[in-house]
Amino acid sequence: MRVGVLCSGGDSPGMNAAIRGATLRGVDVHGFEMVGFVDGWRGFRDGETVPLDRPAVRGLSGVGGVFLGTSRVAPFSSVLDEVDFDAFRARVADYGLDAFMLIGGNGTQTVASILHDHGVQVIGLPKTIDNDLGGTDYTFGFDTAVSIASEAIDRLRTTGDSHRRCMVLEVMGRDAGWIALHAGMAGGAQAILVPEFPESLEQVCEWVTSVRDRGRSAMVVVAEGFRLAGADHAVTRDGLDGFGRPRLGGVAEQLAPLIEAGTGIETRATVLGHVQRGGAPTAFDRVLATRTGIAAADAVLRGEWGTLAGLRGDRIELVPLAEAVGRLKTVPEDRYAEVRLNFG
Ligand code: F6P
Repeated sequence: MRVGVLCSGGDSPGMNAAIRGATLRGVDVHGFEMVGFVDGWRGFRDGETVPLDRPAVRGLSGVGGVFLGTSRVAPFSSVLDEVDFDAFRARVADYGLDAFMLIGGNGTQTVASILHDHGVQVIGLPKTIDNDLGGTDYTFGFDTAVSIASEAIDRLRTTGDSHRRCMVLEVMGRDAGWIALHAGMAGGAQAILVPEFPESLEQVCEWVTSVRDRGRSAMVVVAEGFRLAGADHAVTRDGLDGFGRPRLGGVAEQLAPLIEAGTGIETRATVLGHVQRGGAPTAFDRVLATRTGIAAADAVLRGEWGTLAGLRGDRIELVPLAEAVGRLKTVPEDRYAEVRLNFG
């Protein structure tokens, strides 16, 4: 059995651990031959591969980033009717591959599902710091991003308290508010703003003012995809993101002057950015990613094609890709209500 491993989309702490887990299980236990594609679909297109074996993955479980590289290069046109799947399968055959392990988030797993529908033998490994992928309770990388963001909250709080300022921290998450919700809860934020539940400026100012009235300084955590209810927000940062969409970042910079004007409290904005994706994964992410890799190698052995190795409770289960993709896993109302009652 010859297995190709390919990462696609933004990196996520734990990807190295997942490749290591899959390689040690696949090569040493199941006797597979394994090969990694450099920079995702870019390496597939350009014929750039590296052999995967025990020496290639030694010492990698605690290392951030991904040694194979990743990119947002797409494997085929998004207009599916125009895709020549025969040519794609022929390219897979050129590499001598029997199966693919695809490590990625929503976009990558949607591609995995399409490839499966067209006869390519794939297993998906879910990763994204955004935690917005269905079919799994948590994606690896999320726990690391949350712990970095909650450390940032702790640090912003001490300087905010010293100056009696309101501090606004913007975290990633794209269209989902999971990082903001968990980091905000962990850091005891007085307001957590997520894309799923727009709030008005008046409401945000009321929370900030009531914190000040108790003699404290407010900490507001805002997810990058949040938009104020009823407001017409301009995209302030130039350029496009890796998906060719207008870059969303900048919401904290928009919000801070509005809060300052609405409350009279000096307010500062911090955009955490890619710090959230960098550095060593937490122990939780290393374990989750390693178990995901092991489960994916076992799934290849059993030929459970078209599945995603997702976390369900404390077990890694194989979930049909078609059930995992198609809609974002967003913050549900009860999880937001849980924290909202304590805002202000
Ligand atoms: O999907 C992961 C993520 O970090 C999002 O939270 C963020 O919006 C996006 O990727 C940033 O993309 P890029 O690294 O291409 O700027």
